[in-house]
Amino acid sequence: MTLETTFFNHTFANPFMNASGVHCMTVSELAELDRSSAGAFITKSCTLTERAGNPEPRYFDVPLGSINSMGLPNLGFSYYLDYALAYEKENEGKQPLFFSIAGMSAAGNLEMLTMIENSAFKGITELNLSCPNVPGKPQLAYDFDATFDLLKQVFARFTKPLGIKLPPYFDFAHFDQMAAILNQFPLTYVNSINSIGNGLYIDPKSDSVVIKPKDGFGGLGGEYVKPTALANVRAFYTRLNPEIKIIGTGGIRNGQDAYEHLLCGATMLQIGTELHKEGPAIFDRITKELAVIMEEKGYDSIAEFRGKLKTMNE
Ligand code: SIN
Repeated sequence: MTLETTFFNHTFANPFMNASGVHCMTVSELAELDRSSAGAFITKSCTLTERAGNPEPRYFDVPLGSINSMGLPNLGFSYYLDYALAYEKENEGKQPLFFSIAGMSAAGNLEMLTMIENSAFKGITELNLSCPNVPGKPQLAYDFDATFDLLKQVFARFTKPLGIKLPPYFDFAHFDQMAAILNQFPLTYVNSINSIGNGLYIDPKSDSVVIKPKDGFGGLGGEYVKPTALANVRAFYTRLNPEIKIIGTGGIRNGQDAYEHLLCGATMLQIGTELHKEGPAIFDRITKELAVIMEEKGYDSIAEFRGKLKTMNE
């Protein structure tokens, strides 16, 4: 039995990765992911220049998950591109690296993509259109026309493999509209979902919010978001051209959660909140748990059940 997963012409040892933002800000955190049992890993979403992000406290673990308003703290585009190029030089033939960008504007995104295009980078770029935490900057992927315009400009100049990170959608009309836009472009993948934006958690003892930015409003992750994540993975899996793969992110805490994302059609799986809680050792635990479930169900490979969710009309 194997957890091997083929994605972008490469066979990864397993489908698990970190979600961008968790354990991937510095070279030393990235090196820990590289040494872990994760099948692949991704860098922190970066901006053209270094950002301090929002004031602390800005990440808080809550009983059913997490709430955060990090505000895209990162060490700047060049820091991560230098890391990526050095990584590729040292690890030729190893699994491709995922490189996340989240420009402060369309122009910023296009400038970073042009630099990636003109560099020797051979991995996969993720364009994050869904950060809910930068005051004054709405999530671009909730604006359908702006998303179409940006992707048109992106693919006029970018020829390397590209995925996009989406926020959750909550209506069939929006699944349909976004899928119709995405199907017009040669995307390598869609990553669903980013956190559920702008939740509010109240500490029952102090009657206070638990994070400082935006008066306590922040993106929700963890157990809270799994049903929404599964719905988005399923909705895009059943609407997108089969060439566009799905990375499932949201509420993956154990092997059963991972199994459900795969059943909905995900090819790779990203872990955020639970990685933040447990550290990179989670990848050992969760690969074992997924293998046990597959064995119990009599599957030798993920390909045998990917996308095979049953509905009550069959
Ligand atoms: C953040 O840095 O605020 C989180 C990144 C994201 O949600 O895209």
